Order: sequence, then structure tokens, then C-alpha cells
Amino acid sequence: MSSRDIFREDRESSEIPFNRPFFSGSEFEFIQQAIANWHLSGDGAFTRKCHALLERELNIAKALLTTSCTHALEMAALLLDIEPSDEVIVPAFTFVSTVNAFVLRGAHPVFIDIRSDTLNLAETHLERLITPRTKAIVALHYAGVACEMETIMEVAGRNNILVVEDNAHGLFGKYRGQYLGTFGCLATQSFHETKNFTCGEGGALLINDPQYIERAEIIREKGTDRSRFFRGQVDKYTWVDIGSSYLPSDILAAFLYAQLESRESIQARRKRIWEYYLDHLKDWAGNHGVQLPFVPDHCEQPYHMFYLLLPSLAERQALISYLLSRRIHSVFHYLPLHLSTMGRRFGGKEGDCPVSEDVSDRLLRLPFYNDMTESDQAQVVSAIQDFQWRRKYTLDFSALGAGAGVDELS
Ligand SMILES: Cc1ncc(COP(=O)(O)O)c(C=O)c1O
Repeated sequence: MSSRDIFREDRESSEIPFNRPFFSGSEFEFIQQAIANWHLSGDGAFTRKCHALLERELNIAKALLTTSCTHALEMAALLLDIEPSDEVIVPAFTFVSTVNAFVLRGAHPVFIDIRSDTLNLAETHLERLITPRTKAIVALHYAGVACEMETIMEVAGRNNILVVEDNAHGLFGKYRGQYLGTFGCLATQSFHETKNFTCGEGGALLINDPQYIERAEIIREKGTDRSRFFRGQVDKYTWVDIGSSYLPSDILAAFLYAQLESRESIQARRKRIWEYYLDHLKDWAGNHGVQLPFVPDHCEQPYHMFYLLLPSLAERQALISYLLSRRIHSVFHYLPLHLSTMGRRFGGKEGDCPVSEDVSDRLLRLPFYNDMTESDQAQVVSAIQDFQWRRKYTLDFSALGAGAGVDELS
């Protein structure tokens, strides 16, 4: 059964949403099995299968499913014992959770600008942002294209700073042949509906330094040693540390396992979609001064997104409006965090991270979902090619029905 069979067709067939969830085929069967197992809470058979698959494929010490990437980041901040006197270096161009998780522990975020080619944190700026208070660097692999991990790990190691990878976009991407999420002491994944593999809302904490495993299990289970109890290592479980409830239901794990099992076919679909956009838009982009995604030779991307960098904010907004008028939903992405209300409270001001500010104004993400057909894509490409650069367009969401509410910042 495909996603198109399952979905009620409540949108015009000519409408192209930005994202739509995908069913790889075994989701319902696995959910039924989870129900038949009489195990709907966390850490059931399907959670264990997801853990084993991630640990085996990525060759990591431990994977723990969480209720979101946000929660995996919060666990990372707890595990690193982030305290109010600590500074954490974070990209200005990222999702709020990359930063908020550390601010929740009282850390002071130090915003680092991004590179204009990969849109990843500018590793050459790291040294001048490091102070005796710097505890950690959080590296987001934007669009699943790797940060310059060699430099980041070298600078961090020399300065005794911990590295956390926010790999929300990058599961199965690689840097110099090594999987993303396996460089820092900890890394986080997202299985939100907009990601390559999803269970609606979900995430994972990847643990590369085994010293964190035992405490991670405790933090994830409300600060108790319940995991040890279920393994028969203690005869009762009790409150031993701080923590929260970070484990997802086994029903969600069952859904996710179906997707992870289909990882090769999902990635092949996304590769085809990404390459279609590139092949059909590169001439148009070259003629109009539009920058397309850049993937360095030493990076293998997981084909998470396809974006355009328009020459200006006005042109980006005009293209979003024009595509909407053609029933195509494209979206902008992150607003620079140092200029957000919270970012300004930490001293952020215009001009601090000029590349982030500029890219945030000009970036537009094209519709991208696993069962996007060539005909869907041809519709998008043809609309882009018809766009008239000097005309004024107004934003009118009423052109779209279902799908218009997809979170633009995820
Ligand atoms: C870079 C990054 N980190 C973290 C998150 C948060 O993910 P989640 O929705 O799973 O909490 C997102 C959301 O899309 C993201 O883009």
C-alpha cells in the first residue's frame, strides 16, 4: 500500500504540498504487532529493534529513542552537566531547540555564523569565540550535509570542549566516509513528520562515548534506574538522579521501525527527487543568480531537502507567493536565532552573524516528500521557470487547502 492509497484525497490533485507523510508499507502491520504484544508504553520490542538497527548500521555504542530531537538535545545538555556559568557555541542559523535545550540548563549561547556554501557553522570562527567558559559546541549538519568535522573535532579536542551533533536532518549522511552522528560524544536525530524517516513526532539520542550510557538511561526514565531493573540488574527501581520522561510509546517505535527497515528504498526515492530538481533547475538558477545546494566531494548527503537561495528577500517572497498562486507550497527556513526575542536577551544584534541574516532572508525550500512523482516535480519546475522576476505578487494562502499548515521552521 502506498501513501497515495492511504491518504484521503482532500486536496485538488494539482496541489503540491510542501511535505506529506509517507508510508513505506509495514507500518500498520508493525503497529498491530505492538498491540498484540500487549506493550504500548516505551521500551518494548519495537523500540529495541530500532535501537539495534541504529547501533548496528551506524556502529555506535548506544542509541536511545526519544519523544523528539528536542528532547534528545535536552538529554544531551543534562548529560554534559551544563550549568549557568557555561557557554555553548551554537549556529545562529538553526532550529530553536539546538540552542534552547542548553539555555534550559542556564547556559549562555554564543552564536556562530555560518559558511555561505554549505550553510553549516563557520569552523574558522570557532577559535575566536572560545573562552575559558566554553563547555560545548553544537554542530548542526544543515540539510544533512556535514559540517567540517575534522576541524571542529580538532579545535574542540585541543580546547577540552565537548561536541554534540544536532543531526536532525542527517541520518545516514556521511563525512569522509563516516556516518554523521558518530563524531561528537553525543548526537541527536529527529523523526518529525518532515524528516526522511518519521513516526510523526520522535527522535533519538546517539551515544558515542560509553561513559554516558548508564546515566542517559536514567535521565530518560524520569531519573530512575528502571532500565536496570527490567534487565534484572537491581531488584527494585528508585529515584537516583534528575530526569524526565523521554521515551516514546512502542506504537511509535513500530511505525518508525517500518520506515527504518525501508531506509534504502526511501533514500533512493529522495536521491531521485533531489537530482531531478538539480538537473531541471541548474540552468535556470545560473541564468538568474540563484544559488543551489552545495555538497562538498567528501560529503555524502542523505537528500533531506532541496533549497534555492534567491538574489534578495523581495524575490524570495515573490516566488513563494507566485508558487502559491500555482497551488505549490514552498517555505522559508530558520530565522536567525541571535535576532529572535530570546537571542537579543543574550546580546544578539544585527550584523553579528551576517551570513545567517542574509541566507535566512533568501532561502526557499521546495516541496520534497518521499512519494513525490516526476509529474509533481515537473509542475514545480515549470512554475519556477514561468516566474516573472519583476512582477509584484501577494501572499495568498487561500490558494492552498490541506498541507498549508506544515510548520515552516521544522
Ligand atoms: C536542526 C534541528 N534540530 C532540532 C529540531 C527539532 O526536532 P524535533 O521536532 O524532533 O524536536 C529540528 C526540527 O526540525 C531541526 O531542524
